Amino acid sequence: MNWEELFCVEMAPMPAVVVIFGATGDLAQRKLFPALRNLHDRKLFNEQSTIIACGRREYSDESFRTLLGGDSDFLQHVHYCRGDNSEDDIYLKLAAMLKAAADKSTDYPCNTLFYLALSSPDMLIVCRKLAEHGLLQESVADPAWKHVIFEKPFGRDLATAAGLNDKLHELLKEEQIYRIDHYLGKETVQNILMLRFANMIFEPLWRAEYIEKVEITVAEELGVERRGNYYDHSGALRDMFQNHMLQLLALTAMEVPSSFDADAVRDEKTKLLRSIRPFDRRTLDQYWVRGQYADYCREPDVAPDSKTETYVAAKLFIDNWRWRDVPFFLRSGKRLGRKKSEIAITFKSIPHSIFPNIAAGDLPGNVLVLQIFPQEGMKLALQAKKPGAKLCIGTMQLEFDYSSLGKNPADDAYERLLLDALLGDPSLFIRSDFILESWKLLSPVLSTWESSDEKPILYAPGSNGPAAADKLTAPAAWRQLELD
Ligand code: BG6
Repeated sequence: MNWEELFCVEMAPMPAVVVIFGATGDLAQRKLFPALRNLHDRKLFNEQSTIIACGRREYSDESFRTLLGGDSDFLQHVHYCRGDNSEDDIYLKLAAMLKAAADKSTDYPCNTLFYLALSSPDMLIVCRKLAEHGLLQESVADPAWKHVIFEKPFGRDLATAAGLNDKLHELLKEEQIYRIDHYLGKETVQNILMLRFANMIFEPLWRAEYIEKVEITVAEELGVERRGNYYDHSGALRDMFQNHMLQLLALTAMEVPSSFDADAVRDEKTKLLRSIRPFDRRTLDQYWVRGQYADYCREPDVAPDSKTETYVAAKLFIDNWRWRDVPFFLRSGKRLGRKKSEIAITFKSIPHSIFPNIAAGDLPGNVLVLQIFPQEGMKLALQAKKPGAKLCIGTMQLEFDYSSLGKNPADDAYERLLLDALLGDPSLFIRSDFILESWKLLSPVLSTWESSDEKPILYAPGSNGPAAADKLTAPAAWRQLELD
């Protein structure tokens, strides 16, 4: 086996009991159970493991398994525990089921992973109850761990996130808390660190001397669908910026960590957030634009006079040696022309042209695009000789597409994250300090928008978002949303 193959072998986790709260909900049904099933089919779900699905609805093991559908090999691991999250009854039942599952496992230790696919207030209620019933308690005599995965949103501003953190820290050690951001589970997002730190050719150029600008786009075609109730109290800043967008930014711009160790990487990500130039409420309009797609207020469960933004664009700067004065443009929105996620790094033009009649500025700077969706891969635009006349220079693309490897990584984010959680590896989960820094950074924006009577700028569904966002990148334009 050569070294490449050696590192490509997934480690299989020890036995565990996976307890899913919110098991009948959308996330569990669409993402979590399919991800666990895939792990099982890939032999990455220990045969001695058990899944306990907790929910309020009336199901037996059998009828819940029928709901999940599919082959019985995976389903035999699944059991259903019915009850109300706020009543003791479900925790008593759960305790007995946990004990039975652990006793059944002859391999040792048998870990416990709780997945709280619930709203923020419910997450806290469940955690308190789990703690009251001694279900979160780890013991020095027993190497088995107990970890809890928290879905986003983690808080809705600095005060609530800090409050939630404090309350959780009364019940759990930080090492037991796994805050999820599914973007970190995407192959293409993990690739950012590999590209930057497993190659020599990019890192020396990854700085203000050579980079003109960085543009991060997460554009969606869909609107709020059936999530109006959640989304109208959240908006794009909370739903996409505080988490996914800032994670992408941190991975792109952070310094080299001392190792690939979870805390070493997370230290650098948090440090990067601390280096972002704080936003000043008085000049916010020069750096931030918020929009709302026309008809948003007619979506189900959305207030008819809602001021919630469905689009956000921002220009920000990172005040450190590496990024001095390099603009970072970030935008994310719903009901845009196309679903497309990418990070585009535009390099500066050459300082001097030797080619007759071609000025240095006539030659576009190289652009490295890290493609997250729908293409998954990367491409680098270079100026090169085109066949033909002697001075014929044009832009050529060097491209790598993950689909050429015969594997589509698109659906793997939850699978990766669940496997890591089962292995007790927190590197792709968010640490408390990152959460707090992210909310702190966005506080002036949140409070200004919330206290303003102005509505976000309306934009046509299927468009590129509000034209007002063009002022951020002017005189240049945003990258097109069309696929290239
Ligand atoms: C979720 C947001 O975290 O990410 C959704 O709550 C959004 O509003 C989704 O649609 C986008 O994820 P992806 O993987 O489809 O880009």
